[in-house]
Amino acid sequence: MSSLLETKIAARQHALREQGLLRQRKVLSVDRPLNTNASTSSPRFVFEGRAYVNFSSNDYLGLSRVPELADALHLGAQTYGVGSGASPLVTGYSDAHLALERELCDLTGHEAALLFCSGFSANTALMKTLFDQQDIVVADKLVHASIIDGLQDSGAQLKRFLHNSLESAERLLARNQTSALITESVFSMDGDCAPIAQLSALCRQHHAWLVVDDAHGFAVLDGYHNAEAAKLIDVQVVTFGKALGCQGAAVLGSQALIDFLVSNAREYIYSTALSPANAALALAATQYSTAHPELQQKLLENIALFKQLCREANVPLLGSDTAIQPLIIGDALQTLQVAEELRAAGIWVGAIRPPTVPVGSARLRITLTAAHAAEDIAACVAQLAQVLSRIGVPLVTERQAADDHR
Ligand SMILES: Cc1ncc(COP(=O)(O)O)c(C=O)c1O
Repeated sequence: MSSLLETKIAARQHALREQGLLRQRKVLSVDRPLNTNASTSSPRFVFEGRAYVNFSSNDYLGLSRVPELADALHLGAQTYGVGSGASPLVTGYSDAHLALERELCDLTGHEAALLFCSGFSANTALMKTLFDQQDIVVADKLVHASIIDGLQDSGAQLKRFLHNSLESAERLLARNQTSALITESVFSMDGDCAPIAQLSALCRQHHAWLVVDDAHGFAVLDGYHNAEAAKLIDVQVVTFGKALGCQGAAVLGSQALIDFLVSNAREYIYSTALSPANAALALAATQYSTAHPELQQKLLENIALFKQLCREANVPLLGSDTAIQPLIIGDALQTLQVAEELRAAGIWVGAIRPPTVPVGSARLRITLTAAHAAEDIAACVAQLAQVLSRIGVPLVTERQAADDHR
């Protein structure tokens, strides 16, 4: 007889499979070592013996494959060893961590910073530690799972405002004595940007803190990586696993906030510190991104090229101006089918399904990077248009015609 848990697991997996929502890992390998000349061409990987152009990573500047940064990681490991060896409050906090924290503060104008091994743990730690049952917190409808999980653990009363709606946010702030408003700089699944300056003004007016998850904006989006950031944003969470191409995260804010987290954040106190080699790498990556503004420029050019080609081919994008370009298909199984067809042509895009996105809004999440070559972007759009029309997903013109008849 099966145990209770075996029965539960089998039933849940069966239900997910039926709905096209089962998640499975794929084992990828590299298509070439880092130090070859070909490392300047589009990002690719190999899956089951075949190479694919990668349109689904968050490595927006292509930094994960920069040889100088591999050297920085190597030097960090040679200097400090490969691990931190302890939690930060025991003996895991070194001058490599401090140097990274200082650089992040210089870049954003915040007083102090605290490093975590991932953005997920930074967000949950921040929410769980900062808020409790006495707090009312308002958050954009689309904030990341790590924020929601942390808020649920905190016991705070959570109220959600309509995505990017200042009116909806203001209504909640006016009705509730709110401790903080939480949003993202660039939304991870829609690619659109929050109106940070206006939200900041609203928060000031209602004496609430503005907390911004800057995971997808940091080092790519102009605006919050200068001394002005701290004037608008009370708490900024930056991650190193996206545009910086490496790993880890930081919470940035006032010295009082960071001291409070050091004394109380369980994820910080009871977990092995980010390795000093990774801290040295994140510092080098931060400095590299600042020293190479042409990478941001190339990314912008690639985004513009992709959008223009989609417009010409009537591919119905959502309207984002960032590296994250979603194409909503709606049905989860059909989304998987489109992604599979693109793979058959050597193009890998993310198929994002509920619960990551709301039910009925399954989508392709196509991400551009500074490292993509123009011919691969063109091939991606051409395949996309072909597959969508073959499968019967309406293109822009057909969608408009359908809307006109409503
Ligand atoms: C908006 C947002 N915040 C936080 C995270 C978590 O960051 P990390 O991947 O470093 O855990 C992610 C990553 O998925 C994200 O998209």
